Amino acid sequence: MRSNVIIQKEKKQVIKICNSPKMFNKELYIYQKKLPFTPRLLDHDGKITLMLEYIEGIAIGDLAQPDFAHIAQIYTELHLLENKQGKCICHVDNNPKNYLYANNKYYLLDFSDWEYKQPETDLIHFLLFWASIYNKVKFKLAFKQLMNSYMKKAAINPLEWELLIPELIERFDSRRNKFGKRETNPDIIINRETLKNIY
Ligand SMILES: Nc1ncnc2c1ncn2[C@@H]1O[C@H](COP(=O)(O)OP(=O)(O)OP(=O)(O)O)[C@@H](O)[C@H]1O
Ligand SMILES: [Mg+2]
Repeated sequence: MRSNVIIQKEKKQVIKICNSPKMFNKELYIYQKKLPFTPRLLDHDGKITLMLEYIEGIAIGDLAQPDFAHIAQIYTELHLLENKQGKCICHVDNNPKNYLYANNKYYLLDFSDWEYKQPETDLIHFLLFWASIYNKVKFKLAFKQLMNSYMKKAAINPLEWELLIPELIERFDSRRNKFGKRETNPDIIINRETLKNIY
């Protein structure tokens, strides 16, 4: 936890006290867009505190079968919002904890790390989490569902994909090490090989 999050279920609201004005401004920028896949912004203090709608949902890591095609459509929508020389708004903190499922919908939370990046960054980084969780069969299917659905409305650059993978794996592993997370999935290597094969 890099911020202080106070969940007030009975009031159906969440208070997020950010660590810095920069983090606050990043979150505010996204929540002010009133996107259909983020909690509603109820209030803020203009400095470091946001009040958000409470989403009574399940983190997608706890679902038996998340709908990756549906999640891909959210990425498409997010990525098509703005374009700065080939870069778009990327969520960046693609940990499945930041994705909730509630009432047949998926929600994205935690925009304190978003950045203008190549869209491939979000997809690869999101998939790296599942490569660490799923066996090779489930991973292949999730990968296919996500990519097929994403590419219905937005483009992926295969060369960019290939070039970004090594640095994203390195960043993923160094963050996992930092937080003391050990990789225990025997299929992780094969899953990462699958991930490289975008063609
Ligand atoms: N609007 C919301 N509705 C429901 N749950 C929420 C909401 N906002 C935050 N949470 C819960 O609180 C957790 C932490 O919130 P958030 O990710 O925004 O804070 P954080 O400090 O950046 O946390 P972390 O460093 O763990 O990512 C979320 O993973 C989610 O379980
Ligand atoms: Mg979070």
